[in-house]
Amino acid sequence: MKGEGRGRFITIEGGEGVGKTTNIETLKQRLQHHGIKHGITREPGGTELGEAIRDLLLRTDTTPLNSMAELLLMFAARAQHLATVIEPQLAAGTWVVCDRFTDATYAYQGGGRELGAGAVAQLEQLVQGELRPDLTIILDIDPEQGLARARQRGELDRFEQEHVEFFARVRATYQARAQEEPERCRIVDAGRPLAEVQADVAALIDGFIGSAK
Ligand code: TMP
Repeated sequence: MKGEGRGRFITIEGGEGVGKTTNIETLKQRLQHHGIKHGITREPGGTELGEAIRDLLLRTDTTPLNSMAELLLMFAARAQHLATVIEPQLAAGTWVVCDRFTDATYAYQGGGRELGAGAVAQLEQLVQGELRPDLTIILDIDPEQGLARARQRGELDRFEQEHVEFFARVRATYQARAQEEPERCRIVDAGRPLAEVQADVAALIDGFIGSAK
């Protein structure tokens, strides 16, 4: 049950190079405009432990990471993040905007790494209990286009170095999740000019705020 005074949990998702950072800025501006107290955080990361795990996950100078170990590290970071940042803020009535959450695990580890949804679902239940995002914005882009954008940003991390087939599976998993949960997961076509994407994201969040009041 969502208590009246409880904050709302919003996540933003997508493949590489979809423009999450800019669109999180849009979300922030809309929340500020509506006078809604909020925190912005990210996964993997958001805590000291989570950021250390993020470094282990993204660095490219270590031995290859076993996919199951990668999955467990994502949830280890998440457990700490939930317990020390997300849950306390939501309980205090603060809204939380998280740059990626468990939909990314379904997409990247379940889909990209082909571990399957079942393994992710088990850990999701164990680590999160009933907690799920209230709104998830999925920025969708053709993987070739997204990777080209990511490459322009400079050095590629361990995920960005994956081949395009990996990202095709990531994208397909996001799309399938949006089909399964159309109310929560809203897809935005991020292949268009940024101003159009931002306008859609702003309209989505404004609509959500209106319905949450
Ligand atoms: P970022 O580049 O969006 O900050 O995310 C870091 C990388 O971590 C990105 O390539 C996606 C990946 N990731 C997963 O593979 N599984 C997860 O559960 C999360 C949260 C991120």
